[in-house]
Amino acid sequence: FLKVKVNKLANPFFVGMAIKASQLTNGSPYDVILKNEFSSISAEYEMKMDQISTASGVYNWAAADKIVAYGNANNINVHGHALVWHNAVPQWLKDFSGTDAEFAAEVKKYITDVVTHYAGKVKSWDVVNEAVDDSGAMRNTIFLQRMGPNYVKDCFQWAREAANAAGDTSLLLFYNDYATSANTAKQDKVFSLLDDLKAAKAIDGVGFQMHNTYLSPTKAQIEADLNKAVAKGLKIHVSELDIQVNQFNDISAFTNERRLAQKAKYKEMVQIYNALPAANKYALTIWGMRDNESWIPFSTELNHPGNDWPLLYDSNFAVKSSHTGFLEGLD
Ligand code: G3I
Repeated sequence: FLKVKVNKLANPFFVGMAIKASQLTNGSPYDVILKNEFSSISAEYEMKMDQISTASGVYNWAAADKIVAYGNANNINVHGHALVWHNAVPQWLKDFSGTDAEFAAEVKKYITDVVTHYAGKVKSWDVVNEAVDDSGAMRNTIFLQRMGPNYVKDCFQWAREAANAAGDTSLLLFYNDYATSANTAKQDKVFSLLDDLKAAKAIDGVGFQMHNTYLSPTKAQIEADLNKAVAKGLKIHVSELDIQVNQFNDISAFTNERRLAQKAKYKEMVQIYNALPAANKYALTIWGMRDNESWIPFSTELNHPGNDWPLLYDSNFAVKSSHTGFLEGLD
């Protein structure tokens, strides 16, 4: 089992899985696998603003509470994903007609209320997700437009203030993003953002989503990217790992050749992560349980044209060669 082998390491780390509240029924195959193999969970979507916040100061806690309670009851770490993300803005906030200052006050209130609600129960939060665009500029989101370029630091400081006020002085605050390893413009902008946050003592870690790593970036590019975070004394979360093998839709079934290549890529990613200094390790999280539930196949968001098999378990919850690759990466 993944976490059993990881926990025997000299410097272990959390083995994470992205889950949905509906999967957490006692005795379900998900429940059994999570308890055997994983030591951390992230909500795939139910701890995002558009799911929790239904109106100003009005919250629907049910799904997120179920996820957090499951982790707390089973000694499984809960990573909060994500307080502020442009793809999870509730309609009422998109339509908000108040002033920019009042908009900022709504965001501060949301962050304060959610961090307070989960103080002592959620170990870490992605405070802001994907604030930098692929050109290396600040992504032109509603948050940038309404709150200005300091909004990222504001959000981190509000989260920290809320956690401290609630007595949760060990909460870890992360910035989370994707595709920085081969895109140096984006990488440079992300790390300059992290420098600002570090100078303000507002950040503890950085999440590298690590989607779409089958063909690029290279091992050396990933190591260079992660080592920049090591140099800044940040904890590192490989936060959303999945390894698609059919982005050009050139196969209609999971061929043995792609299966073995995927196994090698999972092994390589685990080796890279496991080689990090102990002080910089936090979690390596897989973005979904079964291939057939992944966000990737036929994803319009990803412009993915066909089927794919990106994860560690197949549609029957059986372990795949990728799972073996993960284990071999720990040797
Ligand atoms: O399950 C419900 C269903 O009951 C309901 O009828 C339906 C219509 O509302 O929604 C279904 O939930 C959908 C959920 O995926 C199913 O897993 C949500 O609408 C949909 O928004 C959600 O999409 C998630 C997406 O983020 C947006 O939150 C994906 O699962 C999730 O994989 C994806 O994850 C993101 C990370 O947060 C950030 N990095 C990129 C990554 C991929 O886009």
